[in-house]
Amino acid sequence: NLAVTRPPLTIRLCGPRGFCAGVDRAIQIVVLALKAYGAPVYVRHEIVHNRYVVEGLEAKGAVFVEELNEIPEEHRSQPVVFSAHGVPKSVPEDAQARNLFYLDATCPLVSKVHKQAMRHQRLGRHVILIGHAGHPEVIGTMGQLPEGTVSLIDTIADAEAYQPADPDNLGYVTQTTLSVDDTAGVIAKLQERFPNLTPPSADSICYATTNRQEAVKQAAPGCDLFIVVGAPNSSNSKRLVEVALRAGATRSLLVQRASEINWDEIGAIGTLGISAGASAPEVIVDEIIEAFRERFDARVELAITAEENEHFLVNRELRDIELTRE
Ligand code: F3S
Repeated sequence: NLAVTRPPLTIRLCGPRGFCAGVDRAIQIVVLALKAYGAPVYVRHEIVHNRYVVEGLEAKGAVFVEELNEIPEEHRSQPVVFSAHGVPKSVPEDAQARNLFYLDATCPLVSKVHKQAMRHQRLGRHVILIGHAGHPEVIGTMGQLPEGTVSLIDTIADAEAYQPADPDNLGYVTQTTLSVDDTAGVIAKLQERFPNLTPPSADSICYATTNRQEAVKQAAPGCDLFIVVGAPNSSNSKRLVEVALRAGATRSLLVQRASEINWDEIGAIGTLGISAGASAPEVIVDEIIEAFRERFDARVELAITAEENEHFLVNRELRDIELTRE
């Protein structure tokens, strides 16, 4: 009898987890654009950092490109969607120059950070962006302002080494998906060195990032293993792995699909934490729980620390189609 031989396992399932309102909106924009304009709909960069989502949209007729010049001449009348991470100002300018019809799926909370960076600059401040070099959101935020007017700071060591031209005229914003605790440390260091540093008028780290980290922090102590469903290029998912380890989980893994799990490495565990990054669909969480159920006598406990009711409207051009969808 399998039920007898399967070892017991407590699964702590974190909430909130998975899709945030910005990711949900970005995916809707591609789906609605396909309905309204037919295939192909081009998408610049992975709409959200998740292969499963990207492949699902490709199957419906979305075509992913890294740059606008990859869109073939004969398809220039089809829409191109900009990803949830945001784009430098040069991208919509380039789209206009090429006579492309674009739909911007930048998360409204990323756009808000763009506006605050521009506001600092308008008020004569040099802008510090706290974030990870190379991430598309960082490239997009830096690209709101002229080159040389934004300084990127990632770590406390960067904050210590930073030498601004005018230390009394600085304003900062951050990437939306950073570690809440690490960012507080970097800001404290900057404030200690530059007491006149102006914060943004509202926190740049978004509600979804904050809530997912808080839930993991509460659930992780005592977990023999903590699984975060998410992609290796997803900033907010990677932060959840770090939060789990710091909060006391013995081990933590970032997993994209159940098939990736190396069961020999899982070994004997009694308590498993599970959460999912903001770009990870719930079906994969289910798939992973199922895979554990096959091997363990698993009992799922919910570890809920907040409720989320955020919903962001899609672009004006698509709202009628949204209302008529089945
Ligand atoms: Fe937006 Fe935060 Fe999600 S910035 S895309 S709500 S992770």
